[in-house]
Amino acid sequence: MLDKDIARVIYTPEQIQDRVKEIARRINEDFAGEQVVVIAVLRGSVIFFSDIFRNLTLDCEADFISVGSYGKGATSGELKLKKDISADIKGKNVIIVEDILDTGKTLKFICDLLSQREPKALRVCVLLDKKCEKQSEVKADYVGFEVEDTFVVGYGLDYADRYRNLPYIGELKTDIWRK
Ligand code: IMP
Ligand code: MG
Repeated sequence: MLDKDIARVIYTPEQIQDRVKEIARRINEDFAGEQVVVIAVLRGSVIFFSDIFRNLTLDCEADFISVGSYGKGATSGELKLKKDISADIKGKNVIIVEDILDTGKTLKFICDLLSQREPKALRVCVLLDKKCEKQSEVKADYVGFEVEDTFVVGYGLDYADRYRNLPYIGELKTDIWRK
């Protein structure tokens, strides 16, 4: 039913799972013997986060943050903190898990906020890195896939809070998001 709004499947569930396992393997290697706080950026990253998290063999905590835009629509306006994390991250290794790096404003906001709390390490893990003009200096340490500058949904990513439950990552037909 939701499939009819999808122009094409970009990444299949199998491709996503292979990539998730590879990223988790790298995180396990990079932080071997250390404790890590893994933070999901609500809500788009929760499915990706769950898959990454269950593949980690490290001693880790799960936490959640939510950042919202004052503006409306698909692009982010000025940002505000809607829900803070619960953990005290001072001196701890932190990995932020986000669905997509578009302009980078969301991750810049979160990285600036969390780095003030003096974590031991602060890393960024994104499912998708969109090829576009990045307005900020945030670079992801772990990237699932690169995508073209088009609107994608599924595997947690939404358009107007729909399509998150699609098992694949697909391109949303332009007549849906341009209308
Ligand atoms: P940024 O702050 O411009 O990097 O935007 C990141 C946020 O915009 C993500 O957390 C997504 O919620 C949303 N976003 C940007 N591009 C897409 C897309 O193609 N599909 C779904 N959400 C998107
Ligand atoms: Mg988001």
